Amino acid sequence: MNTWLRLLSSLDGAVFSSPEELARLELSRALPEDSFALVPDPALGDGWRLSRSEGGWILRGGGTGLLYGAYSVILRRLADGELPEEEASSPRYSLRMINCWDNMDGTVERGYSGRSLFFEGGRCAWEPARMRELGRLLASVGLNVLCINNVNVHEPAQQLLEDSLPELARLADVFRPFGVRLMVSVDFSRPLHAGLPTADPLDPEVRAWWRGTAEKVYAAVPDLAGFLVKADSENRPGPYAYGRTHAEGANMLAEALAPFGGVLVWRAFVYNCHQDWRDTGTDRPKAAFEHYMPLDGQFAENVILQVKHGPFDFQVREPLSPLLLAMRQTAMAMELQLAQEYTGHQIDLYTMIPMWKELFEELPPNRITALAAVSNLGRDVCITGHPLAAVNLYTFGRLAWDPAVDAAGAVRDWVRLTWALPEAQEDVLTSLLLSSRRTYEKYTAPLGIGWMVNPHDHYGPNPSGYEYDQWGTYHKADRNAVGIDRTHAGTGYLDQYPEALRRKYGDPASCADLYLLFYHRLPYTWRMRDGRTLIQRIYDDHFEGYEETKALVESLKKLDFPAPDRELILSRAEMQLTDAREWCDIINTFFHRLSGIPDERGRTIYP
Ligand code: GCU
Repeated sequence: MNTWLRLLSSLDGAVFSSPEELARLELSRALPEDSFALVPDPALGDGWRLSRSEGGWILRGGGTGLLYGAYSVILRRLADGELPEEEASSPRYSLRMINCWDNMDGTVERGYSGRSLFFEGGRCAWEPARMRELGRLLASVGLNVLCINNVNVHEPAQQLLEDSLPELARLADVFRPFGVRLMVSVDFSRPLHAGLPTADPLDPEVRAWWRGTAEKVYAAVPDLAGFLVKADSENRPGPYAYGRTHAEGANMLAEALAPFGGVLVWRAFVYNCHQDWRDTGTDRPKAAFEHYMPLDGQFAENVILQVKHGPFDFQVREPLSPLLLAMRQTAMAMELQLAQEYTGHQIDLYTMIPMWKELFEELPPNRITALAAVSNLGRDVCITGHPLAAVNLYTFGRLAWDPAVDAAGAVRDWVRLTWALPEAQEDVLTSLLLSSRRTYEKYTAPLGIGWMVNPHDHYGPNPSGYEYDQWGTYHKADRNAVGIDRTHAGTGYLDQYPEALRRKYGDPASCADLYLLFYHRLPYTWRMRDGRTLIQRIYDDHFEGYEETKALVESLKKLDFPAPDRELILSRAEMQLTDAREWCDIINTFFHRLSGIPDERGRTIYP
């Protein structure tokens, strides 16, 4: 496993039982002995402060703060060779969470790095050494919550709170010295399985059942971060079945967790997944806002509403969810997805931090209180499937610590720490990674439309794959036009935004090209600001995306990656090239056949 910690010596056999002890151990191994004095300062919590002293350096911090400070110092020293005279740092968000979508049968929903790290055959099956490696990876970039099971809680995952509780406790013990607290996804309807006649959140027996469950769970894992819940979403059970609101549902669970300091993370991914494609009155991106805005102010203090970053579902490009901008009296987490579900399955290269930075440009600094990301981890030798996909885990940690992090700087740090490449090659790889999202975007779905993927597995092109089905993700391309009018005159989605954004996107003549067809329905002959027609721009982007992928593959071949990563990276690059060709051909053909308008440059489009 080649990671950004490759320069650190192994933890095999090392003994440590707290973040502070681990901080001392890591520093003493990585840097000259006695050059660091560690001073615990509980008031600093996760934060740390570094200062120069006569004999070396003083690092102050809370228990976990010392650990984060130690990793920051060690990695900085390894990446830059230098340390500043003085520095203080503390995380922007107190919860920096990874959500694993692992099932107890060992599969991982939307997992592209092999089987589950935690489960196999319906039971817990983790390897302690691997867990320590994982704990170290997470701690090294400041991540502190790990939800280990899928939000779709299939049997027997409920056992995690029941028969498997001792295993959960053992796992929590492994992660505790890394400052990582576990979280568990729970099934809202669990009281029914326990023999209660209802799971109604206002029913006293149901409430008592959850309180009793929380008591048992916290007796085993006293520092459990809390529960994560997907309710009334994609056919999962939830409070709607009992005529209750999501505030009532969430608060009932939050009440059970409150005595133990636990948080209840409630996902806002609720929409009608049984839509009739002829129903133009329903527009899926409006759903989260419609469900949750009326509840603003009604959630208990220890509820965090977890909102996907865009209004759809982790597409290559989506605007920031309007809910994240609108809710003022509710604690919210923004949910990102490291697993490349719609973005190439960790085969195609797709570095996410440029996208995340765009989201944060529109998000006022204090609007959210936590950050979560769906995991891209698995049991493969390369823990992120594609060795270059680890950049997304690393940079997510950096972002969750400080959303103002410089994207290029963070990617470059990762490159430098992970690969022993000559400096010129580090520059090349950094820029390939930074441009990879744009390249992927060009050869896949055009100008903010998304969704032109094969249904179900979400890999490979299928322009009409989701067009006439129940999931509500339509582009409505016909022979004249494509896109959805989401302005006030159309579905009204844009009305969910503050005035400034309404103005920014409301007029197709000034709307940024990359969001154009998300917000507007336009004829193929529409003149873009650069003078090209819309259809020509679609063709050009797709051909360019393919050409850029060709160049990307050639550039990757010239880099001195070590074995066996080199073979893995290059074989995936060849697959990406095949993908890019296929996407380019299929999407361009689709639009050519519909519109009947030829490519001005006469390139081959298979009609
Ligand atoms: C997507 C994804 C599902 C997942 C869901 C969610 O729809 O395809 O596999 O369960 O998101 O976020 O809950």
